Amino acid sequence: MPSLALNLAHVDLRVISVEDAPDLLRLYSDSRTTEFLPLRIDTITDAERVVFGYLACWQERGFGLWSIRERDTGRMIGRCGFLYWNDSEPEVPQYELAYLIEPEAWGRGTATECAQACLRFGFETRGFDRVFAKTNERNIGSWRVMEKLGMTKAPMERFNSQHKVFYTMSSEQWHALSSRHTDDAER
Ligand SMILES: CC(C)(COP(=O)(O)OP(=O)(O)OC[C@H]1O[C@@H](n2cnc3c(N)ncnc32)[C@H](O)[C@@H]1OP(=O)(O)O)[C@@H](O)C(=O)NCCC(=O)NCCS
Repeated sequence: MPSLALNLAHVDLRVISVEDAPDLLRLYSDSRTTEFLPLRIDTITDAERVVFGYLACWQERGFGLWSIRERDTGRMIGRCGFLYWNDSEPEVPQYELAYLIEPEAWGRGTATECAQACLRFGFETRGFDRVFAKTNERNIGSWRVMEKLGMTKAPMERFNSQHKVFYTMSSEQWHALSSRHTDDAER
């Protein structure tokens, strides 16, 4: 079984667990973080329920959400990973890339770095064919991350009846991009 823990330059990604619920509640209690998010977490019971949902996805499907912790301090500064949509519109992939970072850590490239590790896991370990990411059109930081990842803006503008910026990436795109990165590194 492949390792589900991902160690990056400055942060560690671990499968989210119920011990992370208080930190998840802290992250979701900041209105700067939740400004564009549909999900609300107001109590520790809500946070635990959300974690159990993420864990069910890991158990049933082999993917889900990771906590993001700073290596130096151990502080949980975010979460990232994949959500599963089994009843989305036919043109929408089933796997949604999701990321959230606490405001104190914004602008350091953490979301992009973590999302890249998630994409590698999705395409190379789990064999996803296509993933998508969506955000509120005013959430510029979020769609900048999608662009920096090399995702492609899709013409679709509505998702679950809401206006969204919508980006996708196929397995072919991922492999072309990652072989380009390898070529650059070897040069
Ligand atoms: C969106 C979010 C994940 C970005 O996290 P991050 O770690 O700061 O992201 P990165 O540093 O990897 O990249 C962010 C990019 O957006 C840019 N950016 C951020 N806010 C911006 C703004 N208001 N206008 C223009 N660019 C902006 C940054 O400059 C950076 O681009 P650059 O590297 O070209 O300078 C973070 O702001 C967040 O968690 N927001 C709340 C939760 C959320 O909205 N999640 C996404 C839901 S779909």
